[in-house]
Amino acid sequence: MSTATKSRVARRMQGVHGEAAFETLARANELERQGRSIIHLEIGEPDFDTPAPIVNAGIDWLRKGATHYPPSPGVVELREAIARHLSSTRNVDVDPKCVIVSPGAKMMIFTIIHSLIDPGDEVIYPVPAYPAYEAAILMAGGTPVPVTLQESREFRFDLAEVEQRITPRTKMIITNSPQNPTGGVLTIDDLKGLGDLARRNDLFIMSDEIYAEICYGQKPASMLDVPNLSDRLIFIHGFSKTYAMTGWRLGYGVVPKDIFPAVSLFINNSVSSTATFTQRAAVEAFTPQTDEVVARMVEEFQKRRDVFVDGLNSIPGIRCLRPHGAFYLFPNISALGKPSKEVADRLLNEGGVSALPGTAFGAQGEGYLRFSFANSLSNIEQAIERIRKFVHSL
Ligand SMILES: Cc1ncc(COP(=O)(O)O)c(C=O)c1O
Repeated sequence: MSTATKSRVARRMQGVHGEAAFETLARANELERQGRSIIHLEIGEPDFDTPAPIVNAGIDWLRKGATHYPPSPGVVELREAIARHLSSTRNVDVDPKCVIVSPGAKMMIFTIIHSLIDPGDEVIYPVPAYPAYEAAILMAGGTPVPVTLQESREFRFDLAEVEQRITPRTKMIITNSPQNPTGGVLTIDDLKGLGDLARRNDLFIMSDEIYAEICYGQKPASMLDVPNLSDRLIFIHGFSKTYAMTGWRLGYGVVPKDIFPAVSLFINNSVSSTATFTQRAAVEAFTPQTDEVVARMVEEFQKRRDVFVDGLNSIPGIRCLRPHGAFYLFPNISALGKPSKEVADRLLNEGGVSALPGTAFGAQGEGYLRFSFANSLSNIEQAIERIRKFVHSL
């Protein structure tokens, strides 16, 4: 048999990129090992501890023997708690039977795309964006169709452009609000407009709202608030960001009833299920006590956001919007006249600040950097001075 046409790595892996944050973090850590002082503003995880009631419940459940396989779609008590929580915070009545748990929201994104997208199907998604959307679409053999989020629109979708991109092959629109990496937040009118497009063109909407609670000022509108969408809406959320639980690996989806069996089958055949004691512990997330801890964390994020935005805007050559949600800044550095990747690399090596180039979120991120402000106020203040000195030296 000829091996000439055989590729050792599956062809569908071609063009697939991973999350640059992990790679940049490794480089920054290596510099630290060599004795350099680095301020970490690359990785997207809260620098807070998981709220104590959740940690204590996790330990209790381990002692109580919650160490066996749980049901594939998730522990019933957690699915019910999620449904109650969403029904009380959004304009919708969520059926626990439509809730499905996964080890991280990223796995739910992968699961949904693999359960719904056939080779050749087109998926519209925002760019710059969380890289897992494009990667999952490519791995499923689908065709990614990016729609650029413009700074001039505060990084919100241009609905006319979304509409133009719809073809007979389009199967899904992905939305993410509050957004990674820009911090942009879609309005209820944006969401309703997208809902109309989905209904008129018979499309699914996958709405990733993992930063829903990390917002400044008005609470962001949710796709769950849009009426008459339950037959085509896939809602994605998780515990990583809101409850500082990135390492617990816990996310979930709410899916239309008719696709639930396929989604559950995918989980069954891939990861089997999600760790039992983490699911049990997460029930404690939906209590007034935990809400209080989250509110304090968000207050702290807001202080950091304001100091960081003002600091960056005081540096000639940098222009930065004040995001309404998430914990990222996406400053425009095009006036520096250098590619984002070069600026990010040199800022790390020469300036001691670890950030991501905007291009880590798609080519449309050229001319931007992404900073996470999940770091202390004093480190952020120090980072501003390092960035100022670095920019001056260019
Ligand atoms: C927009 C977005 N969605 C989903 C995730 C995945 O979160 P996790 O898999 O930790 O639940 C992230 C993490 O950075 C994200 O930024």
